[in-house]
Amino acid sequence: MKQYLKLDPWSIIEEGFDPQNHEISESIFSIGNGYMGQRANFEELYTGPSLQGSYMAGVYYPDKTRVGWWKNGYPEYFAKVLNSTNWIGIDIYIDGVALDLAVCKVKDFVRELNMKEGTLSRSFIAELPDGKEVKVEAIRFTSIARREIGVIRYAITPLNFNGSITFTPYLDGDVKNKDSNYDEKFWLEVLKEVTPEDAALTIKTKKLDFHVTSVMAYTVHQNGNPVSVTPEATHKEKYVAHSFKLGVQAKEQVVLYKYVANVTSRDHGYGQLLSVGRTALQSAKEIGFQPLLEEHIKAWADKWSESDIVIDGDVAAQQAIRFNIFQLNQTYNGEDDRLNIGPKGFTGEKYGGSTYWDTEAYCLPFYLSTADDSIARNLLVYRYKHLEKAKENAKKLGFSKGALYPMVTMNGEECHNEWEITFEEIHRNGAIAYAIYNYVNYTGDISYLGQYGLEVLAEISRFWEERVNYVPAKDKYMILGVTGPNEYENNINNNWYTNSMAVWTLKYTLEVLEHLQKNEPSVYKELVAKLDLKEEETSKWSDIIAKMHYPYDEERQVFLQQDGFLDKDLTPVKDLDPSNLPLNQQWSWDRILRSVYIKQADVLQGIFTLRDQFNLDEVKRNFDFYEPLTVHESSLSPCVHSILACELGYKEKAYEMYLRTSRLDLDNYNNDTEDGCHTTSMAGTWMSVVHGFGGLRVQNGVLHLNPFNPGHWKSFSFKVMFRSSRLKVTVSEHDVTVLNETEAPANVNVYGNDYTVNGLSHIQISI
Ligand code: BGC
Repeated sequence: MKQYLKLDPWSIIEEGFDPQNHEISESIFSIGNGYMGQRANFEELYTGPSLQGSYMAGVYYPDKTRVGWWKNGYPEYFAKVLNSTNWIGIDIYIDGVALDLAVCKVKDFVRELNMKEGTLSRSFIAELPDGKEVKVEAIRFTSIARREIGVIRYAITPLNFNGSITFTPYLDGDVKNKDSNYDEKFWLEVLKEVTPEDAALTIKTKKLDFHVTSVMAYTVHQNGNPVSVTPEATHKEKYVAHSFKLGVQAKEQVVLYKYVANVTSRDHGYGQLLSVGRTALQSAKEIGFQPLLEEHIKAWADKWSESDIVIDGDVAAQQAIRFNIFQLNQTYNGEDDRLNIGPKGFTGEKYGGSTYWDTEAYCLPFYLSTADDSIARNLLVYRYKHLEKAKENAKKLGFSKGALYPMVTMNGEECHNEWEITFEEIHRNGAIAYAIYNYVNYTGDISYLGQYGLEVLAEISRFWEERVNYVPAKDKYMILGVTGPNEYENNINNNWYTNSMAVWTLKYTLEVLEHLQKNEPSVYKELVAKLDLKEEETSKWSDIIAKMHYPYDEERQVFLQQDGFLDKDLTPVKDLDPSNLPLNQQWSWDRILRSVYIKQADVLQGIFTLRDQFNLDEVKRNFDFYEPLTVHESSLSPCVHSILACELGYKEKAYEMYLRTSRLDLDNYNNDTEDGCHTTSMAGTWMSVVHGFGGLRVQNGVLHLNPFNPGHWKSFSFKVMFRSSRLKVTVSEHDVTVLNETEAPANVNVYGNDYTVNGLSHIQISI
């Protein structure tokens, strides 16, 4: 845990430059627009430790798999979103000496991520080794109004000398991924062009032929007036630059505005990239920095008006929740159904920028409530489009039918290569099925089931049908050799969560079939024919539903995480000497596997997901049993515990878990923020406010709220979009207000009572 950032409701602020924190800050201060994103690297040269990273969504590389011992069924490659052209670079030389914060004395350093406006800025005074001082003020953004455009304003003022400054704005495609399996570089040069007006670079991936073209241009102002410069061109392999020298007087400011367009072959034909990039760049340059900034700020204002959460009376919590919402909105905007949400977004390379079950289990609810239905729908369509690959995956592993979605993927193919996860963490199939229910239940878009949903559900059900094991002696079905969400246990039998999700999927698939048969008979007929669905299959599903084995402890009346769970030493985490934590950094893997400690919500994940199936006593018994054994060493864990603690009225626990999830990266709780932020778990943080403290659920097409003030806040408010209304819910100490910000009346249920909130008016209910 490390706390060095200033508290502020709308900004993340770092005061003073400590190189020890730089890589953590590079992650935290990342910016992006759903189409591209980058770590908060410096524009000018920096020779200290840094992870340079600029990423284009969906541009990836199939890096050859690296494993210790090859096992049949492993994928050939691990897809990773590539570190792509570094387009922010501006080298600065002062009378021939490089400006490099690793060797300068740095004063008055401030770095700020303005979340309201979506900008990253930095100012500082640097004293060079020869005693010359310059003041730098830089600001940049990746436009969310024009997704291919990035803009930088870089201002530099000599403070104590007259001399010369050489500026070298550049595009550098000679970059590599830190996580490259064989230390390989993945890019080849295709084209570079430097004209007096601009410079362009096209690089392509060594495999898959993704092309990325970046085009840059700039304007220069000295003392407030535009100046024209005569640049020298520099070409190196995969690198283009302009260089120009300006004579400067002390206290006279020089401002460089750098405009860059980044376009890719995902969206444009290979032959068009340069002209498309140039046109986008020219129009950005003509519009100019300030108007571009204003349209970007306006676009952020629209996003905030749909998704902001306001916490009154606790600035740490306020800053944290906005940080989480900001990062989610920077990572995915739902415009492109080929894209998804990597666990680190654009903030780092760990997890390869690929798609995990995190999307369905954690992120979907955020996008369901804070954006148009089409956005969440695109997340589902993404999986629909991968169905054929999921069927191939099941075949490859020896199943005769059905679909096993990959644990980690970019294009639908499995990329993960540890047997205990790739082959065993099959609960992901349950989350993907559940997301269909979640979407339809929330939006009411029942047509999705006939259009796409049933096919996915049926193929997942077929997978479960073959994956279960019938044990005649017990007349029970079992699921053997799995890893549940708790990855601190592998190859276990009958993980309660996995068995429950399998049965839930089978039940829901049967319900959907019945619904279609009754309400959309022609669609039903077509789909049954397309799927070649047989009666013997559906009756087998019913049999599995009736006879699934669930590990249970009669004495404690709790569901058991797996068979044999109680054979372990049940010493709670609080009785461990704190020097043992985090276990994944202090203990051998062997010791972790034999212990009782739970990495992340597992049984509780199931209770949270399938909440309607359990009464409050069951929730309480299971929570009281599992929470003391959970170490929350996955960022996905505390939010689930926080939400359940809210329902149980465990105010302090709910708040403790909320702080842990919401400030996970800002306070570097898990000591790993330099690898990137935990973007997917940020959606869990949002859930812990809206589903936890707000108690939001959707039942029979009605939005239910059960708000709970954690006691540390004067009030909090959140916004949700639900069935063509946008509601703002404010929870203060003594009352709950629901404001309908749209025109049509909305029905809500608060604390068990039904209300109609007329358009543009509100209701107030005492707590
Ligand atoms: C968690 C998984 C998760 C992955 C990516 C792992 O540490 O155990 O549940 O899918 O991180 O976020």
